[in-house]
Parts: sequence; structure tokens; C-alpha cells
Amino acid sequence: MNKDLVRVIENPVILQNLCAMRNKNTDSQGVRIATRKITRVLLYEASKNLPLIDKEIETPITKTTVKTIQDDISIIISPILRAGLIFTDEAIDILPQACIRHIGMYRDEKTLKPVWYYNKVPMETINPENTYVYITDPMLATGNSLLEAIRLYHDKNIPISNIKCICIIAAPEGIEHIQEEFPKIEIITATVDDYINEKGYIVPGMGDAGDRIFNT
Ligand code: URA
Repeated sequence: MNKDLVRVIENPVILQNLCAMRNKNTDSQGVRIATRKITRVLLYEASKNLPLIDKEIETPITKTTVKTIQDDISIIISPILRAGLIFTDEAIDILPQACIRHIGMYRDEKTLKPVWYYNKVPMETINPENTYVYITDPMLATGNSLLEAIRLYHDKNIPISNIKCICIIAAPEGIEHIQEEFPKIEIITATVDDYINEKGYIVPGMGDAGDRIFNT
């Protein structure tokens, strides 16, 4: 695993919320609240690659030039359904100019391979060099779904440095799988866990993230 491109964002607030998410005694509402708090920090970290411009403004005191996000870029938040949805409310709060492009894939229980059921991402991207994509999924297990999502955007000529994967709990196997095909992609996560068990769950993990978040 190339650890240089895996950004593990560790701080006491994240750790406290990871503890709550993982705990089997935390109810769905508690899982959602803890997860959202983590997504917010990870989204801020991921957005560090957005290009800045100088902008002249007037404060109530004086004219000044300040830095802000370049305004002619496209920002895409791409949650992998369904657990990835937990990032979206926070993401559009933080980046109101972003569009949300849902990606629907489920994991075939036997093969653990992703099966597409929803993809409305337009065939053409007008200005790929100026497009920034954040693919969100709280669990990076085998990496199969994330790989499909990265391919989808990379095939539209969006530079790999403009595509970021944001997850919360990652498995080493999944990271390696993604890095085999995309050695330069950056992964932002709150933790890298131990391994994936024979049922496809991350250990120690949090169980099925979709079930825990959506109370199913
Ligand atoms: N997806 C989940 O929701 N949990 C896991 O542990 C692995 C994949």
C-alpha cells in the first residue's frame, strides 16, 4: 500500500465519533449523527485541492483582496448509494456550488462485485480539467464499487489529481486494489482497519453501514 496517498485524518473528535459509529449499541440516529460529524471534517480536508483566486471585496471597514475558491470550476459530489448518501447534506452545506451525482451500485452477495443500477452522470464533461470530483462511500472494503466510480470519471478525461475518494473506514485490501489501477489517486479516510472477513465485512468495522445509517 502506498501510504503517501492515503490521508488518514485523525483527531480526538473523529475518534470519539468513530467510537460511537462502531459501537453496536449505538442506535441509527446516533450512528447518523456521529457519521455526519466525521464527513464534515473529511470534506474540508478533501477540498484542499480546489483552486483559489484573488477577489477584491469591501469589508465594512475597507477594500481588500482575499482568497476564495475559483468560481468557474465544476464540483461534483458523487455518493455511492446508499451509504454514501450520508455525506450529501454536509457536502452541499460546505460546497453550495457543487452538484450531486448519485451512483447506484449494489454488492452481489456471492461475488462481492458491484452491479450498476443507477448512473445519470452525463456522457460528456464540458471542461474536464476544471472539474473536481469527490466520490463518497463510508466503507472502502473490496474497493470494487469505488473503482467503478473512479473509472466512470477518469474515462471522461478528468485528471486523477482532481478525483478524490472520501471514506470513513477503509480496509487495506481495498486500498491496494484501487492503487493497483490508479496508483496516484488520493484516498481520504478517518481510519484504516485490519482486514476484510470471509463475509466481506471490514474488521473491526461497523457492520453494514447502510443498515446502521438507515435503520434497516
Ligand atoms: N460495506 C459495509 O457496509 N460494511 C463493511 O464492513 C463492508 C462493506
